[in-house]
Amino acid sequence: MKAWDGRFSEKTLDIVDKFNASISFDKRLFHEDIEGSIAHCKMLVKQNILSEEEGERIIKGLKKILKEIESGSFKFKEELEDIHMNIESRLTELIGDTGGKLHTARSRNDQVNLDIRLYLKRASKIILKILLELLETINKKAESDIDGYMPGFTHLQQAQPILISHYLLAYFEMFKRDYMRLKDFRKRLNECPLGAGALAGTTFPIDRFFTAKLLGFDSPTSNSIDTVADRDFIVEFISVASIAMMHLSRLAEEIIIWSTTQFKFVELSDGFCTGSSIMPQKKNPDIPELIRGKTGRIYGNLISILTVLKSLPLAYNKDLQEDKEPLFDTVDTLEGSLKITIAMIENMKFLKDNTYYWAGKGFSTATEIADYLANKGIPFRQAHKITGQIVKYCIDNNLDLFDLSFEDFKKFNNLFESDIMETVKVESSVARRLSYGGTSEQCVKEQIENNKRFLTVERS
Ligand code: ARG
Repeated sequence: MKAWDGRFSEKTLDIVDKFNASISFDKRLFHEDIEGSIAHCKMLVKQNILSEEEGERIIKGLKKILKEIESGSFKFKEELEDIHMNIESRLTELIGDTGGKLHTARSRNDQVNLDIRLYLKRASKIILKILLELLETINKKAESDIDGYMPGFTHLQQAQPILISHYLLAYFEMFKRDYMRLKDFRKRLNECPLGAGALAGTTFPIDRFFTAKLLGFDSPTSNSIDTVADRDFIVEFISVASIAMMHLSRLAEEIIIWSTTQFKFVELSDGFCTGSSIMPQKKNPDIPELIRGKTGRIYGNLISILTVLKSLPLAYNKDLQEDKEPLFDTVDTLEGSLKITIAMIENMKFLKDNTYYWAGKGFSTATEIADYLANKGIPFRQAHKITGQIVKYCIDNNLDLFDLSFEDFKKFNNLFESDIMETVKVESSVARRLSYGGTSEQCVKEQIENNKRFLTVERS
């Protein structure tokens, strides 16, 4: 028997039940569904739409169902379509006809919207917490690895030497923006859809502000038609998640490259890697590879929900049932990827002798020479040219910039003084980059302190 079969004279086909059902995935919303129903019931009692006694019976029944589901004894039925009907049907089984009164002044259309919002409120709060942990982990790593140098790249070509900590803090900024975006998204999420009914509101004298407050929302939604048609919050959440996954995948990619034999910049411990079934020497960075790979899934989920909504007429359409799988998959994937990234960063060791060696390779301090000459009054373009000739001389003679003697420099321009010998060193190149946000130890330490303050504020 179906809750809605009054006007039907034939049974639904089995194949239709199967195709129509969402219970296999939306049972995940059981907690939110019951929480929403309890609030709805309390409001109905307060407004004298249900009697106190009816309200008590319903709430007792709902709490029993919650226990049944949590303990695993609840029998989900496919023919009952979704989580809402499964719970309602069980309620009637448990408390008789009064169970059928719970759905007064409500539709599954506002009910499902509520469930998803409640679910996302909880899920995004957890993700915010994990993002803060990730930020903390990065900042700590930056603090403990402050003595490390590495080459900075553009075009994946040696560019200028940087501090390892400075490089790490670039990721702090990225994940901080993800954190802020998620916080901002939660403001718009925080409106209560309950009471929108099927689409047009209800004739019962309900109090939407009361249920909104009971469920911890800022206010009820403003337009009942928009409410049941709206899944913007899912689009927004998956967008934020896509950007975060994009950041995770950039870090993952670098860890993969940095841990090759050719680079040897970082080492992941054995616990983070797997071997090959044929090549005995292999140690593969599966975890960052998987993060990189899973990013595609999240982008797919974003396109999936956008496409479900594209051109969809107002208000509710069954298409909207397709919103849940991409959402749940996004929450699980993002959460898992963030957690494993935290562990990976904690575990990752920079091979500092090697990163230092390469920081100075590829004439990475050539800009210092150009800046040096520009400081002595030579127009920068000209200084650039002279430095280019010095680099060419080094290439032709198989030398590094720091292999040159003071006399060698003098040959290119007589404005060079003995301090040029110090200027071309990696340490000096880094230490002199004092511009705000730059790579000098002084600036990076300032960034670390600012980050600590940010984390303290967000934690409180
Ligand atoms: N299972 C449905 C969904 O996920 C619930 C809403 C059903 N509403 C309806 N009018 N058939 O969207």
